Amino acid sequence: MTGIVCISISCSRQSVSERDTLALIPVPQEMKVNSDSFTLTRNAAITLDQSNQALVGIAEYLNEKISPATGFELPVEKHGKIEFKLVEDASLGDEGYQLKVKHSDILITANKPAGIFYGVQTLLQMFPAEIKSKTVQPEDKKWTIPCAEITDKPQFPWRGLMLDVSRHWFTKEEVLKYIDELAEYKMNVFHWHLTDDQGWRIEIKKYPLLTERGAWRKPNGQDASCLYQAKKEDNPDLLLPSDRWRTTAEGDSLYGGFYTQDQIREVVSYAAARGISIVPEIDMPGHCLSAIANYEGLSCFDQVGWGKVFTSPLCPGKDAALEFCRNVWSEVIALFPYEYVHIGGDEVEKDNWRKCADCQRRIAQQGLKGVEELQSWFIHEMERFFNAKGRRMIGWDEIIEGGLSKTSTVMWWRNWAPQSVPEATAHGNDVIYTPATPFYFSQNEEKSSMRQVYDYDLAPASLSAAQRAHIVGVQANLWAEGIPSRSRMLY
Ligand code: ACM
Ligand code: ZN
Repeated sequence: MTGIVCISISCSRQSVSERDTLALIPVPQEMKVNSDSFTLTRNAAITLDQSNQALVGIAEYLNEKISPATGFELPVEKHGKIEFKLVEDASLGDEGYQLKVKHSDILITANKPAGIFYGVQTLLQMFPAEIKSKTVQPEDKKWTIPCAEITDKPQFPWRGLMLDVSRHWFTKEEVLKYIDELAEYKMNVFHWHLTDDQGWRIEIKKYPLLTERGAWRKPNGQDASCLYQAKKEDNPDLLLPSDRWRTTAEGDSLYGGFYTQDQIREVVSYAAARGISIVPEIDMPGHCLSAIANYEGLSCFDQVGWGKVFTSPLCPGKDAALEFCRNVWSEVIALFPYEYVHIGGDEVEKDNWRKCADCQRRIAQQGLKGVEELQSWFIHEMERFFNAKGRRMIGWDEIIEGGLSKTSTVMWWRNWAPQSVPEATAHGNDVIYTPATPFYFSQNEEKSSMRQVYDYDLAPASLSAAQRAHIVGVQANLWAEGIPSRSRMLY
């Protein structure tokens, strides 16, 4: 009996891998594949409700993707071979879809355009990979895919990817490419780490020195380590691109770059067309040297540099420093029309706060117990400001220390602080998973392998159902200390 069961399992495994599945990332919830096929030709057209601008946009997107390789421009017509159809099907939710590929036609149904867009992404992954090539493919190339029925919807509403553009800078075009990649894997949040100690990357009109000076730096240890690694591995992807350097009147070579507010708006609208919202992060009160170095009175002692472990932070004891933060965020919020903003709040070295008269006065006036609570006081002040502007605040999981507000969302990154998730969710706060291992994709592959990422349990049984309901999703992060170029970023 046992033998028969084993045989039947191994048979069904083989048949599943060979006949019934497609190499799709992420794996859809349900798929059935059959032996028939559909071939896309230049005569195909797309059928959709033309009064729906979002659907028209998705047809344009599909054409943009396939035209360079195929030479096809699929018009929108009444009886096309590819149909996008909005339906009412509660089981699909806001982002789910059903894709039916038959011999003669293709139908994508969804409740919302977001679902249709993901159906199109699945369809694009089903075609031979050359369909997304930027160069025209041979005339006799067959654009054939298996017939299939796929039903899919995401497990979590938050599917994010972060890019650090401070440690090394990426051009607007490179950021757009990154956003394109997110869309292809059905991710819907781009977390843009816009500022850090090593560079300020967003134009703030009220404080021009943030980018005039703060976006540029002399070559540093991170650059040196990229160059060392480039040589050691004989890998040109680790070289620093030459278009990121400028020479000053004094003859210094400076590395850097930043985005103008117009460029930011362009990125926002590009992402919106792909169903992606952008969460801007202006990291404070730590990781802020690129501001502190260029405006006086922001830190406790106008000290620019490293303390014992981290860099000297902003001074929460000085009203002028808080005013600076609010002014910066006012401009940032006006550029990003989304629900969430990210305050950072990670890795704050609080030694200066213990010695600073302004910080100590604030602690006394507010009845705080010490510098941990001073950090929370600062974060809560900023959150009140965001809430008044109709935004919700996210912070790295250090914002739990010293007291978590009821309304902030916690981004858990510290594997070594596993209590953050049970604590925050028990407190009633939403949590986004991004534990460094395996979700820091800037790490070596042994720590962030595909298998580890797929197998990660985002709904552990140790949490109650009520706590699990506060897990809003998952995100991977790309820190750029060791990532100087577009090809390394894509790698
Ligand atoms: C972090 O990696 N410091 C959030
Ligand atoms: Zn201070």
